[in-house]
Amino acid sequence: TATDKAGHRHFMSKEIAEQPDVLANALKYYTTDREGRHLLETGVDFSQFDRIVMVACGTASLACFVSKYWFEQIARIPVEIDIASEFRYREPPLNDRTLTLFVSQSGETADTLAALRYCTGQAGKVVSIVNAMESSIARESDLALPILAGPEIGVASTKAFTCQLAVLASLSLQAARQRGLLDEAGDRELTDQLRRVPGQVTEALAIAPQVQAVSAQLARYEDVLFLGRGALYPLALEGALKLKEISYIHAEGYASGELKHGPIALIDEEMPVVVLTPHDAMFDKTVSNMQEVMARGGKIVMVSDARGLKDGGDGVWQMIEMPKIDGPFAAIAYAVPIQQLAYFTAVEKGTDVDQPRNLAKSVTVE
Ligand code: G6P
Repeated sequence: TATDKAGHRHFMSKEIAEQPDVLANALKYYTTDREGRHLLETGVDFSQFDRIVMVACGTASLACFVSKYWFEQIARIPVEIDIASEFRYREPPLNDRTLTLFVSQSGETADTLAALRYCTGQAGKVVSIVNAMESSIARESDLALPILAGPEIGVASTKAFTCQLAVLASLSLQAARQRGLLDEAGDRELTDQLRRVPGQVTEALAIAPQVQAVSAQLARYEDVLFLGRGALYPLALEGALKLKEISYIHAEGYASGELKHGPIALIDEEMPVVVLTPHDAMFDKTVSNMQEVMARGGKIVMVSDARGLKDGGDGVWQMIEMPKIDGPFAAIAYAVPIQQLAYFTAVEKGTDVDQPRNLAKSVTVE
């Protein structure tokens, strides 16, 4: 059932393992089938809007940030991301060409709800993307879309995060379609890539022994840096957030290209650097960032589908070998090793994985 651990030691590990199934289910509803039909008609017409404003807290805000890359690159619609506690007091201007999107697992986060109330009646449309459909945020929005992740018990969000990503990715394709930016072949290709995500997540789960071995090393450090580019940049932020939440190791996420503008000053053999780098068009740039770290004695944990020396892996401290993944949605499967890195590191340190100190699953106060 939803509320037992089904043989897992923690809810978090159960929820990580559930991801292929819940993602396949969510994608079944939100992507088009071969005949171009949707099981779930979202009721959003993206051609009516000039911009999207996304508001959320914590991990949900990082799902929004990942999806900004998809909405802007694929659907050519500008996206602004804000954390709810900042948004609500800034009095941001909105109009009827603005679509506001509120993303929340629980649907009860106080800051997100307050930000939503600010937008109701001012924005063109107020849409929420939630796990709990019987929540305040779902009720008070013009339209609520479910992420279909099923109950999430572990305080650190895992399957809700990847289901948020799957729904947002599907919406970015819908937006591109409605804005006349996808021909039939392009539509088919991107939809197929998205539908391959659950299989990629299954393959990513299978590399758990590698991730566990790296975690046994990481548990000995006090500071960890996460780097990524493009949609993997917000994922680096999520990797750092997860690690600090449950293992209490200090961690920071940075865009790889920002390394030289500050964090490089911290590099030494005491601060491992986790680099999320699919073998894509940006790979060579990231390799040179890795070399800058290694030249200063830094220890690189490379998470990549690139293999071998010629691919830039020379000299890395630890390698986590991801399955080969092409296309813009690679970030979803890369969520798995960063979740597991945090999970195994926390288990190694003996912390309370499902109930980390000072944190709540749903924050209903400001
Ligand atoms: C808390 C939880 C996080 C979550 C955030 C937003 O901080 O510990 O895991 O990402 O709230 O919650 P929501 O329910 O709005 O997604």
